Amino acid sequence: MEKTNIAIVGLGTVGSGVARLLLDHGDRTARHAGRTLWLRKAVARDLAKAAARIDLPEGVLTDSIDEVVNDPEITVVAQLIGGLEPARSIMLRLLESGKDIVTANKALLAEHGPELFDRARQLGRSIAFEASVAGGIPIIANISQCLSANQLQSLEGILNGTSNFIVSQMDEFGSNYEEVVKTAQELGYAEADPTMDVDGTDAAQKLAILAHLAFGATVDWNDIPKVGIDGLDPVDLRYARELGYRIKLLAVANLTDDGLELSVSPTLLKIGTPLAEVRNAFNAIRAIGDAVGPVFFHGLGAGQMPTASAVVADLIDTAVGRTKLTFQTLEYFSSDNPPRAILRD
Ligand code: NDP
Ligand code: HSE
Repeated sequence: MEKTNIAIVGLGTVGSGVARLLLDHGDRTARHAGRTLWLRKAVARDLAKAAARIDLPEGVLTDSIDEVVNDPEITVVAQLIGGLEPARSIMLRLLESGKDIVTANKALLAEHGPELFDRARQLGRSIAFEASVAGGIPIIANISQCLSANQLQSLEGILNGTSNFIVSQMDEFGSNYEEVVKTAQELGYAEADPTMDVDGTDAAQKLAILAHLAFGATVDWNDIPKVGIDGLDPVDLRYARELGYRIKLLAVANLTDDGLELSVSPTLLKIGTPLAEVRNAFNAIRAIGDAVGPVFFHGLGAGQMPTASAVVADLIDTAVGRTKLTFQTLEYFSSDNPPRAILRD
């Protein structure tokens, strides 16, 4: 059977989950790709830490990105370092050395997406990013492909697993805020800096990516009005519950006659309605299309294996040349006629 040589860069929570799926379930990738996805290199910053996390075959683990960049046999790379730098520079180096990229790094795409996609296009390479929004839920594929016959009217989503975990635990068990943040970190849900989760940044970055795909709107995530869950008091949750509501961190993109309204904020949702019942690290997105009507997506939005599931699906698609984000879609990223973004405080 033919094989595609893969590298993973960044062997943290997600990277080690991806390695585990590739190593333990090669049969699945072979079945769907019709070829073997061979893990040839895995780059870590701290070799001892990485080795404690996952046992890799001899010769796979390295601390040198050059071993990936200079290996022409490696054609697809899962870039799973978080944050902006060195993730951006490494991504550019990988593209320039002819690799197709799969990433889960939404902060990087929200901040430097146009530069990275432009460079990929110039070089004839692809960047797949299903895992960057809503973890294991295939929302990128659904919005950019399955719902493409529609003009979407609105998206409402619980897009940050950490915040939803924290609010759920506080609401259901009266848990202490600081302790739940720590648990979310231990469970691998939180960003390296959990402030990004609890202050609404991560949800705003994901909303900016979805707004690009769904509406062709180029929005700087920094401009999206956002309020996080970091200011919530347990009493707010209790009063809401007594009145028949739950509070959820909701990201909203709503197409109106005036343009596209975007926001991220804790929102009262009636108990028993689908979004109100999304618990713990689960995410959900309710989209309304003009042809399909309302559709609802629900699943784990954070955590090692749900996220690895999305990354490996992208690796398979990339290996067989059916990357979801086609060059036409890339063009759409810089649509000439996007709706005007309305960014009210
Ligand atoms: P981690 O912090 O667990 O993993 C990132 C890894 O990258 C760390 O092991 C880090 O090393 C390593 N790293 C940093 N710099 C370098 C470098 N220069 N060379 C090699 N390795 C380096 O984060 P996650 O795995 O949780 O997240 C990875 C990405 O996936 C992030 O962009 C995140 O936003 C995104 N994501 C995460 C999800 C989750 O549930 N965790 C879900 C969806 C997306 P060290 O250990 O030494 O710090
Ligand atoms: N920190 C993110 C979250 C990871 O909690 O949703 C998934 O993107």
